[in-house]
Amino acid sequence: MLQAAAKTLSVATTTSVSRGILLSIRHYCKKTPATLRVSEAVSGAELGANVKVQGWVRSVRAQKSHLFLHVNDGSSLQSLQVVASSALNDPLLTFGSAVEVTGTLKKSPNQKQPVELEAEQIHIVGECNPLEFPFKIKERHGLEYIRQFPHLRCRTNAFSSLLRIRSEATTAVHLYFKENGFLQIHTPVITSNDCEGAGELFKIEPSGYEEEEHFFSVPAFLTVSGQLHLELMSGAFSKVYTFGPTFRAENSQSRRHLAEFYMVEAEVSFAQSLEDLTKVMEGMFRSATEHVFAHCAEDVDLFHKHVTPGHREIVEAMLKNRFPTITYSEAIDILNRSSENFAFPTDWGCDLQTEHEKYLVKHCGNIPVFVTDYPYDLKPFYARDNQDHPEHTAAAVDLLVPGVGELCGGSLREERLDLLRARLQQAGLEDTYSWYLDLRRFGSVPHGGFGMGFERYLQCILGVDNIKDVIPFPRFSHSCVL
Ligand code: 4AD
Ligand code: MG
Repeated sequence: MLQAAAKTLSVATTTSVSRGILLSIRHYCKKTPATLRVSEAVSGAELGANVKVQGWVRSVRAQKSHLFLHVNDGSSLQSLQVVASSALNDPLLTFGSAVEVTGTLKKSPNQKQPVELEAEQIHIVGECNPLEFPFKIKERHGLEYIRQFPHLRCRTNAFSSLLRIRSEATTAVHLYFKENGFLQIHTPVITSNDCEGAGELFKIEPSGYEEEEHFFSVPAFLTVSGQLHLELMSGAFSKVYTFGPTFRAENSQSRRHLAEFYMVEAEVSFAQSLEDLTKVMEGMFRSATEHVFAHCAEDVDLFHKHVTPGHREIVEAMLKNRFPTITYSEAIDILNRSSENFAFPTDWGCDLQTEHEKYLVKHCGNIPVFVTDYPYDLKPFYARDNQDHPEHTAAAVDLLVPGVGELCGGSLREERLDLLRARLQQAGLEDTYSWYLDLRRFGSVPHGGFGMGFERYLQCILGVDNIKDVIPFPRFSHSCVL
């Protein structure tokens, strides 16, 4: 009869209560404890159940009669307290070792941690020599220190929180686009175009190929942007996006540049003005941030309390206010009126440097700010000509954010065949981009889009200073370990 009850229950929707009952029945029938993730165990839904938990020891405390362990398996920031008789103690039970603990989940007298596992058996799956392990029990290591151990840093609280936040933020971005009618396109990693025209390309050729012969028949590169492929798709689906790895051969050791980073890019057909794009950028930023704060509250708190104290208020101010918009020309006026001693010039026509971007953000109240209508000559061939005089500008927009500077870059695209052809001709690119010109021949519409650096987004909402601390495996010049 119990077997039948177990079957019925397993068919039923597993509410936390039915799951608890199910676990008890399974245990009674099979005598094999169910394996639980730590997050399930600490939730309190399986109190009284005989369970098995697997993970890594985060703390060990041996008293006369009892042994206390904290076991974490990455399912959440929380560790499960294990209480065992000191008879189960073993010198190999050390900080960092991997264990499998079987026992009964009990209510704990500890208010902070209402559930504990009363251990019947502790199996040491993998030893860890605490003298050689680079992380020390009870020490809160800084991000810079743990960065030296790219193969082990996911075992720290800070980096495991970061990776859970990163995963949830990925979901949040996809959700935003899904809820707003965008189709996801997998744009290629290997491409023959240099969308940004900045020459920061990684060339790909199989080893052994001579300079003149190409595996793909033409020179091929790792993508610097999926924009051109998205533009093509926006001509059929109206609203499209992509979210994938992007590569730039920037010989930079800066705190906001990587050689391999993730970019979120969107393209919108029938966009009439930059406002049609800034609405999407701002909407995505707000929606993703609110989602992450709601779904990763503990992990985000760890950052805002211990890693980057004070940053929560900065993000809350960002979310409270509408993002203002200034033109590039206004930005130059602001910079020229400031008493700051900038290292780079601030004449009309110059590219905005990080120091300028950070100043502008502060000037606008330390919230994200859109800067629009950049000098035409600063922007790539695809940017739409504003045809203004005497200050010749393009309909391009950057979103600048506190602490980071440029988070998003976008523009309306030149949809007029004659103007685009003339610009490509000037650059000697007409043949290379004949397919791109075709898009302007066959049902061309006003359109535009943008790209957001995903790592910079994480830096912005968490207050992390160095981009290498928000990506699982950072790649930058002179470094490709692992
Ligand atoms: O401003 P970018 O170069 O714009 C483009 O690539 C456009 N084609 C995007 C589009 O319109 N679809 O790059 C977009 C964003 C930047 O604002 C920045 O946040 C990020 O990508 N980014 C980098 N992030 C990390 N490391 C690098 N080397 C980056 N280069 C750009
Ligand atoms: Mg840019």
